[in-house]
Amino acid sequence: MTDITVKVKDPEGKIHELIAPEGYRLMEVIRDYELPIKAECGGSMACATCHVYVAENWVEKLVPPTDEETKMLDDAFFVKSNSRLSCQVIIKPEFNGLEVEIAPNSD
Ligand code: FES
Repeated sequence: MTDITVKVKDPEGKIHELIAPEGYRLMEVIRDYELPIKAECGGSMACATCHVYVAENWVEKLVPPTDEETKMLDDAFFVKSNSRLSCQVIIKPEFNGLEVEIAPNSD
């Protein structure tokens, strides 16, 4: 099985290539690599401090956000049309090459 890699831009603009195991939450991968992401609620969709921006060409390829995720993002800061909660993005093989950026206030 080939590794799934995702590229994550940290708040300082540095890009990190991370190996992302299938079935993991993107937030967990970012946290396991000790990049700065608060993810205060641990993935239960109650904090929005795992907020990331998804590269435009990847937005449509992800599973669309649930109503609950959209609602959480409504209350988050610095939200853009490509905002997602990284705890709600479950890694799949077809996400190889996915690019995201950690949003301000989530680091
Ligand atoms: S970790 Fe809290 S909403 Fe994602």
